[in-house]
Amino acid sequence: MKEDPKIRLSNVSKEFISRTGHTVALKKINLTIPDGEFFCIVGPSGCGKTTLLRILAGLEEASSGVIDIKSTDPTRPLNSMVFQEQSIFPWMNVRDNVAYGLRVRSIPKKQRYEIADHYISMIGLTKFADAYPHQLSGGMKQRVSVARAFANDPEILLMDEPFGALDEQNRIILQQELLRIWELTKKTTVFITHSIDEALCLGDRIMIMTANPGKIKAIINVDLPRPRDISTIRISSRYNELYQEIWLSLREEVMKRQEAAATL
Ligand SMILES: Nc1ncnc2c1ncn2[C@@H]1O[C@H](COP(=O)(O)OP(=O)(O)O)[C@@H](O)[C@H]1O
Ligand SMILES: [Mg+2]
Repeated sequence: MKEDPKIRLSNVSKEFISRTGHTVALKKINLTIPDGEFFCIVGPSGCGKTTLLRILAGLEEASSGVIDIKSTDPTRPLNSMVFQEQSIFPWMNVRDNVAYGLRVRSIPKKQRYEIADHYISMIGLTKFADAYPHQLSGGMKQRVSVARAFANDPEILLMDEPFGALDEQNRIILQQELLRIWELTKKTTVFITHSIDEALCLGDRIMIMTANPGKIKAIINVDLPRPRDISTIRISSRYNELYQEIWLSLREEVMKRQEAAATL
């Protein structure tokens, strides 16, 4: 991993003001993510994970603080986002969905199809390149979203619980595919998950957030070897130690969140 910071957040806070009240979603987030890191975020529901990702994506403005994402190539998009819910176009086939961002950037058809087919093959959907989303299962559609994000070749990849809606078997297959593509590309990735296991299988570091307001509680270094094999990593003693450490920290926040909700 190169030590160059790719993402730097200094004192980033976000408040939402609405008719029903005033929510401090994020409070003074200070964070540096080096180029090529797989950075995971876990935290109780409502702690500001999605808000942080939307700020990184430029979809939401911070109330205060500085966000710095280092761009190395102005012709590439700064970020691509993969959401929990499928966000592919139903009227386009798999190849055109994956090539969509490249078309927007006016990359010639032959070239964009070559790039699209490369990632379609990586996610194991070559036979379905001409198929339409309604012909695919939920897991396959999510694979198309992942392939599209990589085909865009953004400076950073942002993923918000991308496999959260999938059944366990599909989730494992997608985790393995993502791990394989990421290990080949080493693209800086910020990945939100509610699963400690998923964060440990994929991440270089895991940030644990506190319940309201969302702050950084701890950042854990995942010193598990790479390249990783998900099935063998889970049976290592280090995996279990890290799992316990993260769970104890997270559990406290989840309980706080429940208590806060109960007294409302
Ligand atoms: N557009 C919005 N307007 C008002 N409040 C919001 C908005 N978006 C998020 N929030 C609030 O900010 C907090 C953090 O939300 P969110 O980032 O979605 O949390 P998470 O993704 O960790 O579950 C929550 O209390 C949520 O209700
Ligand atoms: Mg969220």
